[in-house]
Amino acid sequence: MLGHHFPFTPTIIEKTPGDELGIALFVKRDDLFSLFGGGSKARKLQYIFYRAHTSGCNAIVTAGGAQSNHVRAAALFAAHLGWQAIMIIHAERPSDPFTGNLKLASIAGAELRFVQEEAVAGAMDQAMADLRTTGYNPFYIWGGGHSLEGAFAYYEAIQELKDQMKGQPIDFIVHASGTGTTQAGIEIGCRAFMPSCRVLGVSVARDATRGSGIILESMQALNSSLGSPVKMPQHVAFDDRWHGGGYECTYSELMDTIRWVVRTHGLLLDPTYTGKAFHALRHYVEDGTVPKGSSVVFWHTGGLLNLLSTRDI
Ligand SMILES: Cc1ncc(COP(=O)(O)O)c(C=O)c1O
Repeated sequence: MLGHHFPFTPTIIEKTPGDELGIALFVKRDDLFSLFGGGSKARKLQYIFYRAHTSGCNAIVTAGGAQSNHVRAAALFAAHLGWQAIMIIHAERPSDPFTGNLKLASIAGAELRFVQEEAVAGAMDQAMADLRTTGYNPFYIWGGGHSLEGAFAYYEAIQELKDQMKGQPIDFIVHASGTGTTQAGIEIGCRAFMPSCRVLGVSVARDATRGSGIILESMQALNSSLGSPVKMPQHVAFDDRWHGGGYECTYSELMDTIRWVVRTHGLLLDPTYTGKAFHALRHYVEDGTVPKGSSVVFWHTGGLLNLLSTRDI
């Protein structure tokens, strides 16, 4: 079953024309993923919903924060299939009209239940029970789409990237890393298909010990399910120096980087995810972690709605 997914077209890989950073910079445009508002979460859901569909489900329950890209993409996917969706949102119900991802999830017809962080697990179980009581067969999707399918989506995305690069080597992939399955898939995919490429995950919230531990667990699960094609590493690069104190925390240098990237590259980043990753990339070039002249793929995982729902830029 792993490896099956609803159909989608590959996202483009774009070479930036300027060399402001002194590297050959390619951008993998998963922000332009063509379905359900785009982004890495929409790519993963192609695999997760396929699993739900083949399991005979007709409803979903999942969870996320108030501006969760995962919740928005899942709500749109459920609407596309004509399924019921209950989203457990760990935030206060906003007193203002909904914006961004929350607005889209609401328009898509998902039922939104707002709870405190510690009540999420219980609220998800309750939502599953409620859907069963009303005759649905619901599928449980972990917050953020954390799953083997999600990691597999990014393992396959490395094959997609390799095909697009047509033999041109890549020295580094830099990307925003949160719940871990994007990085787990990229790590196993690189070891399998592009072994000379180094992966630099930039934490958007978690500290390095917790974040990298979860990535290594997801890598282990993916590798075993694939028949262990790669040798597991002891460590992964999960850099927690740029999250600014946690999820959705921002700082003025981050906002400066976002403005600089828009003005020099015409590329829109957001302060919750991709801005932090690009900000780290600037430092990697400055401190020599990424030597000048390197060939770098910045994996743009989405986040436009997070940018638009930020007041401080
Ligand atoms: C735009 C964007 N980039 C990156 C991430 C991090 O992905 P993951 O949770 O798989 O590490 C997320 C997660 O919400 C996201 O929405």
